[in-house]
Amino acid sequence: MEKRAEKKRIVLVPLPLQGHITPMMQLGQALNSKGFSITVFLGEFNRVSSSKHFPGFQFITIPEILPVAEVEAIGPVEFLIKLNKTSEANFKDCVSQMLIQQGNDIACIIYDDLMYFCGAAANEFKIPSIIFCTTSATHKVCNYVLSKLNAEKFLIDMEDPDLQNKVVENLHPVSFKDLPIGGFEPLERFLVLCREIITKRSACGAIINTVSCLESSSLTLLQQEFGIPVYPLGPLHITAKETSSLLEEDRSCIEWLNKQKPRSVIYISMGSIFDIETKEVLEMANGLCDSNQPFLWVIRPGSKPLPEEVSKMVSEKGFIVKWAPQNAHPAVGGFWSHCGWNSTLESIAEGVPMICRPFNGEQKLNALYIESVWRIGILLQGEVERGGVERAVKRLIMDEEGASMRERALVLKEKFNYSVRSGGSSYNALNELVNYLETEGK
Ligand code: UDX
Repeated sequence: MEKRAEKKRIVLVPLPLQGHITPMMQLGQALNSKGFSITVFLGEFNRVSSSKHFPGFQFITIPEILPVAEVEAIGPVEFLIKLNKTSEANFKDCVSQMLIQQGNDIACIIYDDLMYFCGAAANEFKIPSIIFCTTSATHKVCNYVLSKLNAEKFLIDMEDPDLQNKVVENLHPVSFKDLPIGGFEPLERFLVLCREIITKRSACGAIINTVSCLESSSLTLLQQEFGIPVYPLGPLHITAKETSSLLEEDRSCIEWLNKQKPRSVIYISMGSIFDIETKEVLEMANGLCDSNQPFLWVIRPGSKPLPEEVSKMVSEKGFIVKWAPQNAHPAVGGFWSHCGWNSTLESIAEGVPMICRPFNGEQKLNALYIESVWRIGILLQGEVERGGVERAVKRLIMDEEGASMRERALVLKEKFNYSVRSGGSSYNALNELVNYLETEGK
């Protein structure tokens, strides 16, 4: 096969949300370390600090891209459909200009699979493209299952408890009620989106930020559904050097963590999008204080403020931070999380068991796997009340049950570390991808 050593530029197109930009920038670092130049296409609303964190990366703005704030007005499903519809022509223009100005050196366009408008430009300019899935392989298989459903019939079926609890073929323990549709209403439009993601795809490969030891059977299913090579090369954060936080990290919490006993602290973060209702915050705060375990709680700027009396109580027993450097600290013994995929991978990579409080979508699926497949966490369902919070914290930090979860999480941590070392599954998948990028481009 002819070497394409002269085509060493990779174009990356992330979905403009923290949970998607982060793994894409980590992927960029992994490919950059293999000798590729990186160009990142972003919307104007993204504030990834290019010069500060990513010297050598080129950043290009896609003009007139739909502002992410539109999600609030039209909801995530219509936002994604509209974003893809309105960006196709502008992205083509951007790529065309790049080819004129910089020469025909693009080896591949790697795009978030939700940014499927990129497929048209890749086709037009005959540039190979690869999709990047920033959530789990199981989630992607579920989206395939959903894409084949009839929305009306499915909603009627889901009124029958037997059908709700029926396990999805080959996907044990996922039952039909676990399919990740919550938060993406109306279902009919969501299924349109799932189908568009598949039909508009022109990619010759799929990168997944997962590790084969976590979801090998889902990866096999996905490979069958996609019909293109699948590269499970996660968890990408382990090898990435630079952070791509859109918010300033407050490192003052490290000093506080340094004063806590090993594995005693509950770290609480609900990721970069979701906000907890005040009623639930109150129950959480009381339960956490009653547990007498120290806690570090991320309350993002813009989230509902803590009521004053709660704020006082909480700051006596815990530490509140606007945005934390979410990485290893020996004092952290448990992670209270909404189970976003990045947080899930980050927690496992540290061998930290979890309290799962998913909001919607694939977070519930991740929580199901955390609790019942990998058995490294406790799922809090229904209404949260302080007694339940106190018990969950004690179970996780003080009881035998929590110790067993920690042991299993530590085994997975070892497997993660092994996977990115020479000969490991993710290490090999990255090398296969690099080999493809260097030699196989159409
Ligand atoms: C979104 C979706 O909500 C989630 O379901 C999907 O899996 C990924 O995209 P988000 O809700 O932001 O992501 O959650 P998550 O995937 O966990 O990503 C949050 C990121 O923010 C993590 O990388 C985490 O390390 C980082 N973070 C969070 C910080 O760096 N500091 C903090 O204080 C909190």
